[in-house]
Amino acid sequence: MNKDLSKRLEALREQIRHHEYRYYVLDDPEIADAQFDQLMNELKRIEAEHPALVTPDSPTQRVGGKPREGFLKAPHSSPMLSLDNTYNVDDLRKWEQRVHELAGREDIEYVCELKLDGMSLALHYEDGKLVRGITRGDGTVGEDVTLNVRTVRSIPLSISKEKLKKAGIPADFEVRGEMLIPLASFKKMNEDREAKGLSAFVNPRNATAGTVRQLEPSITAQRRLDYFAYSLLQNGNTYFERHWETLKALDAAGFKVNPARTLAANFDELWAFIQKEETRRETLPYEIDGIVIKVNQTSLQRELGFTGKAPRWAIAYKYAARAGVTKIEDILVQVGRTGKLTPVAALTPVFIGGTTVSRATLHNMDEIERLGVKIGDSVEVERGGDVIPKITRVVDDEAHPRGKKLFHMPEKCPICGTHVVRTEGEVDYRCVNVNCPAKLRESILHFASRGVMNIDGMGDALVNQLTDRGIVKNIADVYLLTEAELLKLDRMGEKSAQNVLSEIEGSKKLPLERVIFGLGIRFVGERTAQFLAEHFGSMDALMNASENELIQVNEVGPRIAKSIAEFFQEPKNRELVDQLRKAGLKLAGAKKQRGTKLAGKTFVLTGTMPRYSRDQAKKMIEDAGGRVAGSVSKKTDYVVAGADAGSKLDKAKELGVSVIDEKAMEELLGKP
Ligand code: IVH
Repeated sequence: MNKDLSKRLEALREQIRHHEYRYYVLDDPEIADAQFDQLMNELKRIEAEHPALVTPDSPTQRVGGKPREGFLKAPHSSPMLSLDNTYNVDDLRKWEQRVHELAGREDIEYVCELKLDGMSLALHYEDGKLVRGITRGDGTVGEDVTLNVRTVRSIPLSISKEKLKKAGIPADFEVRGEMLIPLASFKKMNEDREAKGLSAFVNPRNATAGTVRQLEPSITAQRRLDYFAYSLLQNGNTYFERHWETLKALDAAGFKVNPARTLAANFDELWAFIQKEETRRETLPYEIDGIVIKVNQTSLQRELGFTGKAPRWAIAYKYAARAGVTKIEDILVQVGRTGKLTPVAALTPVFIGGTTVSRATLHNMDEIERLGVKIGDSVEVERGGDVIPKITRVVDDEAHPRGKKLFHMPEKCPICGTHVVRTEGEVDYRCVNVNCPAKLRESILHFASRGVMNIDGMGDALVNQLTDRGIVKNIADVYLLTEAELLKLDRMGEKSAQNVLSEIEGSKKLPLERVIFGLGIRFVGERTAQFLAEHFGSMDALMNASENELIQVNEVGPRIAKSIAEFFQEPKNRELVDQLRKAGLKLAGAKKQRGTKLAGKTFVLTGTMPRYSRDQAKKMIEDAGGRVAGSVSKKTDYVVAGADAGSKLDKAKELGVSVIDEKAMEELLGKP
């Protein structure tokens, strides 16, 4: 009977893999999201009933595996090289001439690809299954980041024999390519980080590296990483005779291969590609920093060989950095939603990469000191993708004399005049006035923004007028707006006013977690808001929770708990919630039905369990009312240890905490 069921499961998995491919690789789904979810839920249900039939390459197993304290080192099959760079057409011609000389002929074909600005990563497949993902590291040895790599939906976990055969790829092989974070995900990720009081990543490349090297795969899974394959090896050697065939085969096997590529028969053709792609650069959903040109023929690649770290058979043509030099006319101070003061440079407008830049953030006082900038200085400004322009250095030469005026953080808030404080140990200065109009403006913009209450049309222009004229004094006032009031504002016609009102009305239907996120409590980002909503089930329960109760919530530590408790101690904030309730917002949600069997008990999971993934075990414990913590302390009730348990097990023994296995855990859960 199990054999039949195994077959059925495999067929279902293949179906899901196909739809993942359509969606994440081709960006061309055949079915609606809801239908996909249905298939996935069916698979999850059957697997939950028959845990013994779960296979590691099942689409349900993207997130999971044993907890880690760090990454293991893993050797590369052959060195992962970097590329030499050129910045102009003359140097590129010189490179081509050298290739001609070394090859002893001139009829050489090249493949041109985008130079994606992420991080290179090797994927090892055995018997068609993804077994390892390794970062570049020093080129010889990288880090094993398999668990994180598995969460990337455009990377196949398993490829069928038939598919590999059709693509002409052997069962054991290695793919190399570029992992990246699309600009939209990058932006969202930084917004979430800022909402939580964390520092933003400076560019998508750093964000990719940070995400791939995350210790918690479930966090990697939430950030939409993407992977483009560009190389195929067997035992460390290029497999196909031509690079162009490699790209075709990777595509046929279901990897994402960048569609912007060309086979160039001569210099003119490759130069044309470089120029064409530069104009498309601004429209791409991810960052590129140039074009890679590779000799097509593998035997010729071997003949040309390497110099130091880079191959002679390939080169990167780097597009000009989107940077410019301009003057800092003044340094202004912006006040954010949390009262944080951000110094912003007002620049002499300069044209960089298709847009005029007249402002650049200086982040904080530490950054100003690090750069050593003064008002009147000439500076280099860089603009990358969707990132706010950034000042990279002060230019100091004969043509650009230094500025003289030092910048100081104001002692009073530039908006409301209240005292500014810098808490010890913190980088940031803050305005302490809870009613500061700047905070109000920013909190309303946050509340109305897309990932929160999604009130389309409520952007800067409208919010500025509403707050300046005192029509909206807190976020709940948004729900009291009338058409007559809106029509009195600048640039507001009847149609727009009605649209805004209907958007506001529509936002009332959004679930509790959005409202919690929308309140703008410090350190409470989207994910924390969701955990809070699930845990408490209503705003009232959340509002009246003590710090001790708050700490029981997934991923809520003392710092967040304190911030939430303080927020709701403020009578103004409690009134605000009442006002939102009167406006008809959803302040109760679906509280997760949690058992009480393990209420008050804290578990720590370590090592690999025979039957359950870490996430499954965590969920079972939480569903039974228990809590799963990340580290062992005296307060831990049980450490559930599987195979290869590490330092957490030692710690448990040292502190005398009960250590149990999976079976004993099942018994505690009351499983038959
Ligand atoms: S080929 C020996 N192709 O650029 C061949 N690399 O500066 C080396 N990169 O470490 C890599 N897009 O991370 C190749 N289409 C592409 C690429 C690419 C981006 C990155 C890669 C490499 C770096 C070298």
